[in-house]
Amino acid sequence: MDKYHEFTKNVFKLIKLDLTSYKEKQMKRRINSLVTRNGFKDFDDYFIALKKDKELFNQFINYLTINVSEFYRNEKQWDILEENIIPDLIKNNKSLKIWSSACSTGEEPYSLVMLMTKFYRLNNIKVYATDIDEGAIAKAKLGIYNEKSIKSLPKEFKVKYFDKIGNSFKIKDDIKNRVQFSKLNLLEDNYPSNCHLIICRNVMIYFTQEAKDKIYHKFKNSLTDDGVFFVGSTEQIIKPLDYNLKPIRTFFYSKA
Ligand SMILES: C[S@@+](CC[C@H](N)C(=O)[O-])C[C@H]1O[C@@H](n2cnc3c(N)ncnc32)[C@H](O)[C@@H]1O
Repeated sequence: MDKYHEFTKNVFKLIKLDLTSYKEKQMKRRINSLVTRNGFKDFDDYFIALKKDKELFNQFINYLTINVSEFYRNEKQWDILEENIIPDLIKNNKSLKIWSSACSTGEEPYSLVMLMTKFYRLNNIKVYATDIDEGAIAKAKLGIYNEKSIKSLPKEFKVKYFDKIGNSFKIKDDIKNRVQFSKLNLLEDNYPSNCHLIICRNVMIYFTQEAKDKIYHKFKNSLTDDGVFFVGSTEQIIKPLDYNLKPIRTFFYSKA
């Protein structure tokens, strides 16, 4: 076994994160750059240090998870969500169970709460938000963003739901309180059930086909019969029927 695969095995033993489910070339390059950047000789040395040094460990998780996000990312799809997907869902359901499944630093679940205020009173809105990266979740809970990350957000939401602190924007508690954050590893953990809307955007691109196959099945099983699965703008599913899913709009799927 080469050093990289030995490293992936060790990481799995330590934190149950299966690095071999991520595209190898990309992942290996990223970890390699961390090894050299931190002055280690090879993967072995790096792993020994990771086990002992919490800061180094956090840097590792943070770097390999790629937390880039923004509010209303690819805004056109949020228009479809508002104009078509949600209105259809609320025809048949009193309240909606919504899951943002790789929520990063919170931009996606908070955008969902804001959008849902167009349909429900705040008290009746709840969004489940999960990510593998506890550091990202901590930032999400803090809820402080820069101007760039809210650039695509409708102006009315910017005005209504943020307090400006210096050059930053702090999300109001009214919105924050509607999101329940927790840690969930899409590769290993059980998924929430009976979701009317699942969003999984800009994370599937990092996984191998084998991992994707497993995850799509799990998402399909987590949907209600009329539930909708919303994917990222470069993540259309090639053969959705293989997972008993069918496209209802570009980037939106329901059970086949
Ligand atoms: C680029 S961000 C996407 C954020 C948001 N969904 C968006 O589209 O803007 C990718 C997120 O996937 C998370 N992630 C990576 N591997 C994961 C896994 N195995 N389980 C859960 N989340 C994972 C990362 O921690 C990161 O926060």
